[in-house]
Amino acid sequence: MRGILLAGGTGSRLWPITRGVSKQLVPIFDKPMVYYPLCTLVMAGIREILVITAPEDREQFVRLLGDGSQFGLRLEYAVQEHPGGVAQSFLIGERFIDGGPVALVLGDNIFYGPGLGRQLAMRHRPTGARIFAYPVADPHEYGVVEFDETGRVLSIEEKPARPRSRYVVPGLYFYDSRVVDIAQELKPSDRGELEITAVNEAYRRAGELSVTVLARGTAWLDTGNVESMMQAAEFVRVMEARQGLKIGCLEETVWRAGLIDDDGLRRLAEPLLRSGYGQYLLRLLDGLPGPV
Ligand code: G1P
Repeated sequence: MRGILLAGGTGSRLWPITRGVSKQLVPIFDKPMVYYPLCTLVMAGIREILVITAPEDREQFVRLLGDGSQFGLRLEYAVQEHPGGVAQSFLIGERFIDGGPVALVLGDNIFYGPGLGRQLAMRHRPTGARIFAYPVADPHEYGVVEFDETGRVLSIEEKPARPRSRYVVPGLYFYDSRVVDIAQELKPSDRGELEITAVNEAYRRAGELSVTVLARGTAWLDTGNVESMMQAAEFVRVMEARQGLKIGCLEETVWRAGLIDDDGLRRLAEPLLRSGYGQYLLRLLDGLPGPV
């Protein structure tokens, strides 16, 4: 299965921070935001990834990530000329998807939790669509999913004024090969976007949507505004300081997944020694910092 990482948009809710740099390249504590969703795709077993950026940001992503071979990945790049909605990814990525199933992760979504990697690796080959649900205190900013008492999905609504439940849909989606056709049929919503929620609704109407509620204790953090970005950074800082293990560390994730060997990890560590990040990677090779 191939993956798409959507890192487009203008980041206007973070202006002026993102006037000069892509939102998905700003730091969440000790690493660029895009590292976290990349790790999520890698943990789901995905090795070939299309990174979609705004036209002016492409070069910076290439500078950071290259062709991915240093991480044991194959990365391609495409641009989203105008922010036309999450579902536009499937039109931009049609050639890359090449008639197969595809996973999509939003470049500003951070997932972290016990067993999440294993759960993702198990569930990523869908017939139809597989999405997740997560309870939040303030659902109206998101796609909101409504269940009946047997757990059947009754509706999914994008940013409803009056949410029908506390369960919202995080930015990680798995689809079978029909997703491109479905995206082609979409009409722009009132906010002028091809909505991912409309894709999910199409699968739901066809009886082909499964929704997994993320386990209690899973962290799903979004980084859409300054406040939530700082909360995410603080979460990462506290967890990393306490456990001595990094979250969203792409180099570690690909090494643990067996995509690079010890020498590959050493090569990634060497240029990063002055920040301390490289030392962490080298400590991994010494069997530190302890069991995981
Ligand atoms: C998008 C989706 C929404 C989803 C959210 C997750 O919202 O449209 O359904 O819940 O991502 O981050 P947007 O970022 O476009 O506001």
